[in-house]
Amino acid sequence: MKFDHILEKRISVRSYDSRPIDKKDIIAICEAARLAPSACNSQTWRFIAVTDRQSIRKICHEAMRHVIPNRWIEQVPLLIIGCSQLDIIANRIGSRVTGIEYYQIDLGIAMEHMVLKATELGLGTCWIGWFNKDKLKKILNIPKKIKVSAMLAIGYPKEEPSKKRPRKPINKILFSEKWGKSF
Ligand SMILES: Cc1cc2nc3c(=O)[nH]c(=O)nc-3n(C[C@H](O)[C@H](O)[C@H](O)COP(=O)(O)O)c2cc1C
Repeated sequence: MKFDHILEKRISVRSYDSRPIDKKDIIAICEAARLAPSACNSQTWRFIAVTDRQSIRKICHEAMRHVIPNRWIEQVPLLIIGCSQLDIIANRIGSRVTGIEYYQIDLGIAMEHMVLKATELGLGTCWIGWFNKDKLKKILNIPKKIKVSAMLAIGYPKEEPSKKRPRKPINKILFSEKWGKSF
């Protein structure tokens, strides 16, 4: 699949078939994350692939939040939990000096690599950021010092996803040379 086609095809999917995902595809998706760049090559990302139905049900019913309860994740065959292990000294010092949380950037890049690889494999995905991380950590035995920032739902789409969400035009997001000057 051409790269532009992958970008065009990717859309958040919230309705999934129960068909399981091959272990080799799960590994291919995680390999795509492994190749991602990271600040000082610190590779602080860690991932948990959750396929156990009972665990997914538990996460759905106990680790979501009101307002956006994400009930649709109950049917998802695979949840990837995006974690960061921050006891890498270079990462902590760098963030303290610049005030930039590099681990969040690193995790975002790695997980979007996963999204694009999954799209290439014909799978649907959706980022999930609206959850209770303390409850999630308890369910999955994630140690206290590990940060959890995001989840990905991955599976075979049940139906054609609804129409694409709109995007701002390029002249609203891209400036030339200085802030505010149109490109
Ligand atoms: C960091 C992040 C967190 C998100 N959290 C959720 C979520 O909790 N539930 C949900 O249904 N969609 C979630 N989304 C998906 C966005 O709503 C979606 O990407 C956006 O509306 C654009 O639509 P598209 O992905 O179909 O292009 C999240 C996306 C990102 C990048």
